[in-house]
Amino acid sequence: MTGQWGQKAVKEAKPYTNVHVAATGEADGSLKLPARHTWQLAPNAAYLHYTPNETIGGIAIHDIPDAGNVPLVADMSSNILSGPLDVSKFGLIYAGAQKNIGPSGIVVMIIRDDLLARPTGNIANIFKYSAQAADGSMLNTPATFSWYMAGRVFKWLQRQGGVAVMGERNRAKAARLYDYIDGSGFYSNPIEPSARSLMNVPFRAPNETLDELFVKESEAAGLLAPKGHRSVGGMRASIYNAMPMAGVEALIAFMQDFAKRNG
Ligand SMILES: Cc1ncc(COP(=O)(O)O)c(C=O)c1O
Repeated sequence: MTGQWGQKAVKEAKPYTNVHVAATGEADGSLKLPARHTWQLAPNAAYLHYTPNETIGGIAIHDIPDAGNVPLVADMSSNILSGPLDVSKFGLIYAGAQKNIGPSGIVVMIIRDDLLARPTGNIANIFKYSAQAADGSMLNTPATFSWYMAGRVFKWLQRQGGVAVMGERNRAKAARLYDYIDGSGFYSNPIEPSARSLMNVPFRAPNETLDELFVKESEAAGLLAPKGHRSVGGMRASIYNAMPMAGVEALIAFMQDFAKRNG
């Protein structure tokens, strides 16, 4: 549990099952990952769930955890398609579309064949992956526009060179932004460097008054949605696949100018 989406996953699972939290970064304000040797994995668990990229806090688990024989389940809503991924390591991957896939309204699931049949028991078909798969994900009328647009995005992604090229671009974009923040002497990002997200970069000016001014002025300058999540404050640059390096450069140019005027 490395942030707010992990916490929500725990809360949502609780009515259905015994939830064992193997590790949490809460004691460190979710700014650091709990050290791997402190994880208390349950060898008989039905699955191990984690959030590789915590969208709000901007913390990421970059390597795939070894869950042994326990199926690994990942919420990849904010990092799917951001780089190459060995899907064979996972039992189940799910991702809301609205970051790297397309408009909101659909969720992409990648499920290992032997897990399709779970859960069993008396539940509505709509909640059965096996029923969804058997009907080509058209058990009910799907969100057709989101689906169509996702297809267009996948074609665009292929034209860019696929996830390998995206991975390189995303690493370069994030490195450029974190390097600037760390060297600025004005802005700061609180996440331990090895666990910094490539997709979501929260940052702060030296005080809250300047944070507010930054949000106001950067929005007026045409930089969209600079505000951090209300629970974190400050600013957040979400630099998903659709954001080119030129967008990161535009943000940094504004940040430099703002720091000069307010430093
Ligand atoms: C990592 C992660 N999980 C889950 C969600 C929730 O997605 P939805 O609002 O589509 O349920 C989000 C949304 O931002 C997210 O970033």
